[in-house]
Amino acid sequence: MSGHLRQFDSLLQPLGLRVDDWLTLPLPLLILAIVGGISILISLCRFIRVLLNVYVVPGKPVASFKVKNAPNGTWAVVTGATDGIGREFALQLAKKGFNIFLASRTPDKLDKVAGEIESASPGIKTKVQAIDFSAADVKAYDDLKRALSGLDIGVLINNVGKSHDSAVYFHETSEEEMESIVEINVNATLRVTRIVLPGMIGRKRGLILNMGSFAGAFPTPLLATYSGSKAFLIGWTQAVAEEVRSKGVTVQLLNTYFVVSAMSKIRRPSAMVPTPKAYVAKALASVGKQGGAVGRLHNNTPWPAHALLDWAISYIVPQSVMFSQSRKMQLAIKKRAEAKKARAAKTQ
Ligand SMILES: NC(=O)c1ccc[n+]([C@@H]2O[C@H](COP(=O)([O-])OP(=O)(O)OC[C@H]3O[C@@H](n4cnc5c(N)ncnc54)[C@H](OP(=O)(O)O)[C@@H]3O)[C@@H](O)[C@H]2O)c1
Repeated sequence: MSGHLRQFDSLLQPLGLRVDDWLTLPLPLLILAIVGGISILISLCRFIRVLLNVYVVPGKPVASFKVKNAPNGTWAVVTGATDGIGREFALQLAKKGFNIFLASRTPDKLDKVAGEIESASPGIKTKVQAIDFSAADVKAYDDLKRALSGLDIGVLINNVGKSHDSAVYFHETSEEEMESIVEINVNATLRVTRIVLPGMIGRKRGLILNMGSFAGAFPTPLLATYSGSKAFLIGWTQAVAEEVRSKGVTVQLLNTYFVVSAMSKIRRPSAMVPTPKAYVAKALASVGKQGGAVGRLHNNTPWPAHALLDWAISYIVPQSVMFSQSRKMQLAIKKRAEAKKARAAKTQ
């Protein structure tokens, strides 16, 4: 045995292994063992990378996207800002000293959230713009552009989103639902970003966070249009992020599993389903990091349990198992919703 092999042998001995035993293995078995060992090592390294990314590496401070001398302060623009995750982004960015521009559908709710922000964060200014992002109304976007012009916008949260009312086969999805999902999740994100991004490039400073979903990263049967719209955001975010990263603008997609909200229809938080408050705190503390989305550049899975799930689905669970489990889960949701509808119809 050569000197190197002897050294290797002494390393393996505490594990109850000996180089001699391995060298007597038939060649195909030896190759299989080496390939298996290497892939276990790679998986372990990836897992350690996720843990470091989630628990150790610090995020870029959100305050670095703000300047002290902007005459009217630095602004954060949040779409879909009156409920759930968007409302929390608005409240928490105000706490970090950003003035808040809220763009959402319902005027009363906009005024209410703006009032909440101003009383919770004295000195912070707010502006509201009522806009229905499902309407594809060119004039409404012109109005939005006018309202945003002249503001020093440091942060844009492309949060507004719509999912299916319930799990549904693509061929049974109503045209209205299909169109509004694409209009809100895809077109509104593109249009609002086109309004805001040139100013950020000009100032060489900006952060854009796009609300993604596990349904985009891992295609979800019976939520096909939602799933496809969020998958679009992954590719688009990565492309734009690469275009502007040398211009001082950070663009990231937030890869998200469930969060307590009206959209998720989940009311009770758990380790896997955070409240919007807890989720947004993590998202704002992990800007520029990847979390579990280790294989997807410019993506971040900010919530720790989501990050671990992301790693497991990406590297451990075979795609065929993931697809069939998610199909079964959505079919069960579909059946429950249909049974509920039938019961409601009977009682009328
Ligand atoms: N919650 C989750 O489990 C989860 C998981 C993955 C990804 N996401 C993503 O996170 C984002 C926010 O979700 P959420 O759960 O916080 O939703 P949510 O609680 O239902 O809030 C949605 C917000 O968007 C506004 N909105 C809805 N339709 C609009 C339209 N047509 N025009 C303008 N504003 C509109 C709503 O305004 P009104 O008050 O007027 O209705 C509300 O402020 C979405 O992009 C979603 O896809 C959520």
